Amino acid sequence: VLANRVIERKRDGAELDEAELREFLDGFLSERVSVPQMSAFLMAVLFRGMSRRELETLLSVMIESGAVLDLSSVPGAKVDKHSTGGVGDKVSLALAPLVAELGVPVPMMSGRGLGHTGGTLDKLESIPGFRIDLDLRRFREVLTSVGCAMIGQTAEIAPLDRELYALRSATGTVPSIPLIAASIMSKKLAEDLDGLVLDVKMGRGAFLADDQRAVALARTMVALGTARGVPTVAVLTAMDEPLGRTAGNALEVVEAIQCLRGEGPEDLAEVTAALAGHMLELGGKASSAAEGERLASQALAQGQALDRFVRLIEAQGGDPSVVDHPERLPRARHAGDVFSSEAGVVQGIDPLALGWGVVELGGGRTGRSDPIDPSVGFEWQVKRGDSVHPGDVIGRVHARTPAQLERGRTILAQAVSLADAVPPPALPVVRRVIRAGDPTID
Ligand code: URA
Repeated sequence: VLANRVIERKRDGAELDEAELREFLDGFLSERVSVPQMSAFLMAVLFRGMSRRELETLLSVMIESGAVLDLSSVPGAKVDKHSTGGVGDKVSLALAPLVAELGVPVPMMSGRGLGHTGGTLDKLESIPGFRIDLDLRRFREVLTSVGCAMIGQTAEIAPLDRELYALRSATGTVPSIPLIAASIMSKKLAEDLDGLVLDVKMGRGAFLADDQRAVALARTMVALGTARGVPTVAVLTAMDEPLGRTAGNALEVVEAIQCLRGEGPEDLAEVTAALAGHMLELGGKASSAAEGERLASQALAQGQALDRFVRLIEAQGGDPSVVDHPERLPRARHAGDVFSSEAGVVQGIDPLALGWGVVELGGGRTGRSDPIDPSVGFEWQVKRGDSVHPGDVIGRVHARTPAQLERGRTILAQAVSLADAVPPPALPVVRRVIRAGDPTID
């Protein structure tokens, strides 16, 4: 099969058969298909989409391009969660120990911050000593003894995805639902899971800000996981506003600990318990997601999983005393309150402004390997519907320099929108759930 013929056929809207698509993708791995050819192919996919069969072939080749974990020595049904990325989303930090505490092993492979969204690995690394680069043997040991383990994607997992992702970033071909779905699922399905829960964000701070596209992505991923024999559920959750009351790595660790104590903000606890409910059902520890959610809410409220988080930190080389002494986490040299200059009712907080704000303060990356400062970020203490008066404290900024502190104050003040009218009540944080076999038409 000639590579240019495959590209032309995709360009013209034909469905590629499995053999020719495989040969084309394998050809890229063995450098018989060039980077310009693959770039053109990706652009053709962006415009033409992929059939379910094409997509399953792409996913298979991606998974087979690298190593696949073997967790058969770990007893129990293993379930992981993946989020498409949010601002203030520290859910994983509380969720993994919570679900482990309730009897389902969680082998979690997470990512770093991407664009305006934060990453679990960056948050974990703000805990002094915490290692996210465990080898597979140690990963299994921690998973077996603690019930959860949290590491980064190793270089051996889905290398084809890594190469294609770099190319997509460089060629404007990231926002294609089949390409995103295959990319995410190739990494998750290499984890040897018995169940997968996807937190697909919806709203202006989401990776896909268009609701219909977020739903389509969720459906596609659920179909792909299910077709490969991994029961997969997608929970669509709100990202119109940042989650909880902090954004910034160390600040979010503190908030996750509060959540594990049963003292976390309501929206964070709600999303965490909802996702845990599905994980417990998939892991066979609850008869339904609703029952799982009840168990999870109760365990959170009673602080039952906090000790599991302490054990996780210890097992991965971190300093567990941060749980009782948050001041031992990295602290920014400059911190200061932010005051409202006007009166009004809070209409909302812009997640994009705060997400990019964390990046601007040095807590996220603009390039691939930039070092980040775990101490910087934002806290806010107002929520949609709150009334504020001039001079009221609306939040706090943590920054490296006085100039950045001032800049952070402006960013936070502008992210909080005020008006005279009381806004309509927010939609529920958990918007909808998509399971295998759900009708595909709204
Ligand atoms: N995250 C991924 O892992 N892949 C994508 O394509 C988009 C987001």
